[in-house]
Amino acid sequence: MKKRTTTQVSREEMEKQAYFSRCIAEKNATFAAGKGRKPVAFVRTFGCQMNEHDSEKIAGMLEMMGFETGTGFEGADLIVINTCCVRENAEEKVFGHLGALKGLKRENPDLIIAVCGCMTEQPHIVEEIRKTYRHVDLVFGTHSLHVMPELLWRVIDGKTRVFEISKTDTEVAENVPVKRNGSVHAWVTIMYGCDNFCTYCIVPYVRGRERSRQPAAIVEEIKGLAEAGYKEVTLLGQNVNSYGKDLPEPVTFAELLDTICENTVIERIRFMTSHPKDISDELIDVMAARPAVCRQLHLPVQSGSTNLLRRMNRHYTREQYLERVRKVREKMPDVALTTDIIVGFPGETEENFEDTLSLVEEVRFDQAYTFIYSRRVGTPAAAYPDQVPDDVVKDRFERLLALQNRISREINDGFLGATVDVLCDGLSKTNSERYTGRTEGNKIVNFTASKDHTGETVKVKIDSVQTWSLEGAAVED
Ligand code: SAH
Ligand code: SF4
Ligand code: F3S
Repeated sequence: MKKRTTTQVSREEMEKQAYFSRCIAEKNATFAAGKGRKPVAFVRTFGCQMNEHDSEKIAGMLEMMGFETGTGFEGADLIVINTCCVRENAEEKVFGHLGALKGLKRENPDLIIAVCGCMTEQPHIVEEIRKTYRHVDLVFGTHSLHVMPELLWRVIDGKTRVFEISKTDTEVAENVPVKRNGSVHAWVTIMYGCDNFCTYCIVPYVRGRERSRQPAAIVEEIKGLAEAGYKEVTLLGQNVNSYGKDLPEPVTFAELLDTICENTVIERIRFMTSHPKDISDELIDVMAARPAVCRQLHLPVQSGSTNLLRRMNRHYTREQYLERVRKVREKMPDVALTTDIIVGFPGETEENFEDTLSLVEEVRFDQAYTFIYSRRVGTPAAAYPDQVPDDVVKDRFERLLALQNRISREINDGFLGATVDVLCDGLSKTNSERYTGRTEGNKIVNFTASKDHTGETVKVKIDSVQTWSLEGAAVED
């Protein structure tokens, strides 16, 4: 097979987008002069960190176009819904919102509604929006993110509905404006797409083939973030371990991590997601050797049964997974491990499920994100005949959750009375008298302090623990 190589979207194309962005900015300036306020754009995001970061790019482009950032649907002049389709309930939520937006559009016919993200890469969803949700003006897929200015201009200037689902997936766009949500932690996408085709998963169909950014572009971005005061980055990719294979001059993920550590002063580096089949000794060694790389690993296992793992097309056995965990812990005994698990994959027997429970007992993850299997149109597993009945799945899900909650709580109990280093993100969103931050192991810590430590690493003495977080007080002198 011919090797595919990833290239960058041309400078001309990006300049064209900057031009359309200016066209919209001019219109928006006229709007502001007439109404005494800038037009408001509200972006609502569903899905994973990748989508969250894409929404930061959407917000960045909208800011360049002269939009004010909105905080809700009401009163917005432009609404963008960035969608996820990894499970059915994610899609249902989006359709629920779309239905509700019909009323807003009736009240304000000038309101522009755009839908983008993973759902809109599926032809049957696009058709449904086209036919049933006629108040939606613009639909674009994940591959068209960087051409949003042009698409939006076509809606505004041409007063027509625009549907743009491009399938080009050999390019990456650089220098898209970004408006980040935080000031301490930043997402950095290092690669797009996925080539793994796990049999339950829709992601490869909606995000396309793996495409890596150039190491130099990633290093530049992180340098800029460090200069702007950011302390922590999370490198994003569906399978970061296969980073760089598609570059004209291939680079491994471990080499990329090393280069970032060598050339930037960023304090903390995390990454997700690592596929267990590809986590190399080289990567484990770099993690162990580089203090900036957090000793935290998200390593989705999906199932503890070799039989099911084979049917899931995961390319590792239970034993191989456990061997990787042993290796990681041998090099980094204090590493925090998290995982994803699917319950009720087609054909899952009680015995298979018990294999998952015993693996969870054996590994003792700090946290596990557990999901009920959801049938996704177009994936191989959706056609498997042996789907597991709902009541059986629900019962297994509850048992797994109870087990993991107990383990998470026991691990957190071990922190009682300890003093931990916490990178402070700012005030807690739920309690304005407390600050929040994370440990190197990515545990959320809510704490009291006599002054604002945002962006600083502070010592916090833990005095109470929950299943999902730790609580305490800053040790200040
Ligand atoms: N690329 C990442 C995660 C992608 S989606 C990885 O491979 O780990 C995040 C999680 O959603 C997956 O790890 C899986 O546990 C879950 N997931 C994906 N498809 C699913 C489906 N059809 N039903 C239920 N959970 C699913
Ligand atoms: Fe989906 Fe598997 Fe790719 Fe993860 S590695 S995005 S689970 S196909
Ligand atoms: Fe969802 Fe797309 Fe992420 S399907 S999980 S938003 S890659």
